[in-house]
Order: sequence, then C-alpha cells, then structure tokens
Amino acid sequence: MTTRGTIFLEEAEILEHRAWPAEQYIVRVSAPEAALRSEPGSFAHIQCDPAVPLRRPLSIMRAERSSGWLEFLYKPVGAGLAKLARRTPGERLSVLAPIGRGFEPDPDRPRILAIGGGVGIPPIVFLAQELRARTEFELIVLMGSEVPFPFDLVTSAHEVGGSPASASHAIELLEQWGIPSRLASCAELAGCFGGFVTELADTWLRASSPQALARTQILACGPEPMLRAAAALAYAYDLPCQVAVEEYMACGVGGCAGCTLTVHGTNGAAMKRVCVDGPVFDARSIYTNPSAGDA
Ligand SMILES: Cc1cc2nc3c(=O)[nH]c(=O)nc-3n(C[C@H](O)[C@H](O)[C@H](O)COP(=O)(O)OP(=O)(O)OC[C@H]3O[C@@H](n4cnc5c(N)ncnc54)[C@H](O)[C@@H]3O)c2cc1C
Ligand code: FES
Repeated sequence: MTTRGTIFLEEAEILEHRAWPAEQYIVRVSAPEAALRSEPGSFAHIQCDPAVPLRRPLSIMRAERSSGWLEFLYKPVGAGLAKLARRTPGERLSVLAPIGRGFEPDPDRPRILAIGGGVGIPPIVFLAQELRARTEFELIVLMGSEVPFPFDLVTSAHEVGGSPASASHAIELLEQWGIPSRLASCAELAGCFGGFVTELADTWLRASSPQALARTQILACGPEPMLRAAAALAYAYDLPCQVAVEEYMACGVGGCAGCTLTVHGTNGAAMKRVCVDGPVFDARSIYTNPSAGDA
C-alpha cells in the first residue's frame, strides 16, 4: 500500500471542526495534494497556531480524493493541540503531508484483524475506508477507548466471531461501509465489550479455526501497552503483525533524527526514524519480547 512520494506543504482551509465529549476533536481541512497521496498509517505535521512554532504530528483518519479533504481526530495533551482546538472553519492551517510509511497488508494473509485504541483509531478508520472496496481482503475492526467514542454509534448488523452479545455497537461509518466491527472499553460504555480491545481480539482469534488463522494478519495502532499486547497476541497465535508507533517529533520529515527507535532486522539492530522509516513497523522488529520493556 505504501507510495513513498513527495510531501506537500499546503495552506489548508478548515472546512469543519467538531468537538466531541472528553476533549476530543475531529477537524476536516482542504488539502488536495495530500488527499491524493495519503495512505492508512501516514500522517500530517500540522502547525496548530502561528504562535506555536513546533508542528504536531496527527494521523490521517480519512482522505477524500475527489473533493480534496483530509480529516483528523485528536485529543490535546498540551499547548499545541489545545490551540488547534480553538481554530475555526474558514481559517487556514499549514499542513505538511502525507508523511511516512503506512500499513502494507500482506495479500497472502487476506483476513485482517485491525485494532485501534484511543488516538490510534484514526489510521484504522482510514484502513477501513481504503479496504472496503478491496474484495480480496476480509477486514474485522476492533476499537478500544476509555472515553466515549468520538463517533455516532449504531447497533451492528454484522457478525464478529467470539464477541459477547453485550458488545453490540459499532461506529456508524464502518457499518455504512459494510465492515464488521466492535468496540471495547473498561469504562463501562454501553454496547461495548467490557475489557481491553486486545482481550476482545483474543476472543475473536480463539473463535477462529486453524485454517482461518493461517490466513490472518494483525494491523494495530494505539498506545504502547496496547501495541505490546497486540504483538503478544501475534506471537501467541503465530501471526504477522504491523504496528503504527508514536514518537516525539521535531522536524517530522527525516532531518533531525529526533524520533529514532531501535529496530531489529536480519542484520542486527539499527536506529530508524519513526517519521519517515515508519510510523508503521513489523511488530517483531521492535518488540522482540512484547511482555518485557524491550522497545
Ligand atoms: C505519527 C504520529 C501520529 C499521531 N497521531 C495522532 C492522532 O491521530 N491524534 C492524536 O490526538 N494524537 C496523535 N499523535 C500524538 C500527538 O502528536 C501528540 O499527542 C501531540 O503532538 C501532543 O501535542 P500537544 O500540543 O497536545 O502537547 P505538548 O505537550 O504541548 O507537546 C509538546 C511536544 O511534545 C511532542 N509530543 C507530546 N506528546 C507526544 C506524543 N505522544 N507523540 C509525539 N510527540 C509528542 C509534541 O509534538 C511537541 O513537540 C500522533 C503522534 C505521532 C508521532
Ligand atoms: S522528527 Fe526529525 S527525523 Fe523524525
């Protein structure tokens, strides 16, 4: 799926900006060049406000190529994204995008378990958007959140093997796209599986036959403990697994080496830049022992 091409700098007009409960925001901007070339797992480096010098990296959640917009879901943790939250439709944001290597689903493993947690949900929504028309792939999406999901929810009409009847809800967008999905939360949210999203993933994997597992791969994005748990599932069930990781970023385009992490390959360990060599990596190359702190 990866097309490592040019990164565009666009003065993107804010088209819509919606606040959701628990300080979550979805912003849609006009950025036609980036929209044409974005892929699930790639991100944008955004100037939140003229008064904030450092850009902030946000995953692309949706790209509409025909109308030239990008959409992002974010949750402020500090000053930069808090200022972004105050920007209004009609204003412009400087957007550097698309950046990074996205998910590369293995066509030999057409059964995809996509797991998204918290602000790691956006690339999984984008993946669903891209794969909905790819009939060679069979996608199941599981999402976890400890605050109300920033989407309209509906009762799902699709089967997801192993999930209890209480896990009845899905985000409306994925239902409209015809993609089976379920939600998980430890915060007792209605219609959600009660527990971690990786526990829900485990129930689905346990309900899968050996033949089905031999056709399965995991793609995941979320907080580090969730990625480790996804990698541990991949080890336990002997599945390939790609993870989209986060790292503190300065330049965001490969120039400062401020975002490096250790990646293990056939030739030993090497330092890789998360912004341009990632953010998606083979889970085995960064979590050699997912239950230990080895990243
Ligand atoms: C590839 C990638 C994709 C991301 N996608 C999303 C997303 O879709 N939605 C979302 O809400 N968040 C996402 N994040 C995390 C988000 O970039 C940080 O939470 C954000 O930069 C914090 O900025 P702030 O102004 O709120 O906080 P501040 O604390 O003011 O940020 C201070 C500095 O630390 C950096 N920083 C702080 N936390 C992080 C972090 N977790 N990762 C990287 N840099 C950090 C900021 O870039 C900035 O330089 C992503 C991070 C990366 C690397
Ligand atoms: S942020 Fe500068 S190299 Fe990645």
